[in-house]
Amino acid sequence: MDEDAGSMNRILDSGASAIVTKSIGLKPREGYKNPTVVELEYGILNAMGLPNPGIDAFKEEIEKIKKSDKIVIGSIFGSNSKEFVELATKMQNFGVDALELNMSCPHAKGYGFEIGSDEKVVKKITQDIKQNTNIPVFVKISSNLTDIVKIAKAAEKGGADAIVAINTVKAMKIDLDLKIPVLANKIGGYSGKAIKPIGVRCVYEISKNINIPVIGVGGITTGHDALEYIMAGASAVQIGSAIYYRNVDVFKEINGEIKTWMKNNGYENLSELIGVAHK
Ligand SMILES: Cc1cc2nc3c(=O)[nH]c(=O)nc-3n(C[C@H](O)[C@H](O)[C@H](O)COP(=O)(O)O)c2cc1C
Repeated sequence: MDEDAGSMNRILDSGASAIVTKSIGLKPREGYKNPTVVELEYGILNAMGLPNPGIDAFKEEIEKIKKSDKIVIGSIFGSNSKEFVELATKMQNFGVDALELNMSCPHAKGYGFEIGSDEKVVKKITQDIKQNTNIPVFVKISSNLTDIVKIAKAAEKGGADAIVAINTVKAMKIDLDLKIPVLANKIGGYSGKAIKPIGVRCVYEISKNINIPVIGVGGITTGHDALEYIMAGASAVQIGSAIYYRNVDVFKEINGEIKTWMKNNGYENLSELIGVAHK
């Protein structure tokens, strides 16, 4: 979840096998006023408001990272199918390897969550993008839903190649002295360590009920966290907030921690562990 080619390349050089860009929309957006990010005891609370340079200005950044042979996943957000299709075709033309549809931002009005909680809309947007592009399409869904499986199934019916779960969890913090919410947007999304059990539960429920791969994300800070997601049914994992806790070396370290656990427990292939918790 980064938008500048320099930092994306640093992440790729440090052991990540792919990178997901920050979500990009049609027009440049400044995002919300500060404070937009606060570190809490067990996680990070943010309401950035989807700041981004707009799709046309993003071409150059993608070209800079596409110089390596690493996988780049272009994340996009829109308010309707037409916008999503325009963004998807542009991202594809810029050379990304896959698309991630952000239908789950908990704090951007008119985008994200409103779209991602309607089965028909999720299916239609996915279907329209699949018809107009020829690269894999991942649909990122939210834990803030009453029935996460219903939305995952709608994306699968629309032709999604994978489901990404979860985005940040809708949350708030109040400043006791000022007696007001700490975020300028008042409500934000919670990420990091505290949300791992929520993400693991979502991945477990989704992977039990659909036939496409699930990519797990939420609170992964160690190799053991990643293994939990894999046992819950994730075929791959993403790492966001842990870069704040552990810096950019986190990717190499997590890879090492997974390998050590597998060696100590007699596993050679990670695929042997995908979904084992379902048995
Ligand atoms: C500061 C910040 C910015 C984020 N921006 C995006 C974004 O642009 N698009 C998106 O789909 N998710 C975004 N996320 C959500 C993360 O990709 C991820 O789903 C979530 O933080 C849970 O994973 P983590 O606990 O490893 O951070 C953002 C999260 C944070 C903390």
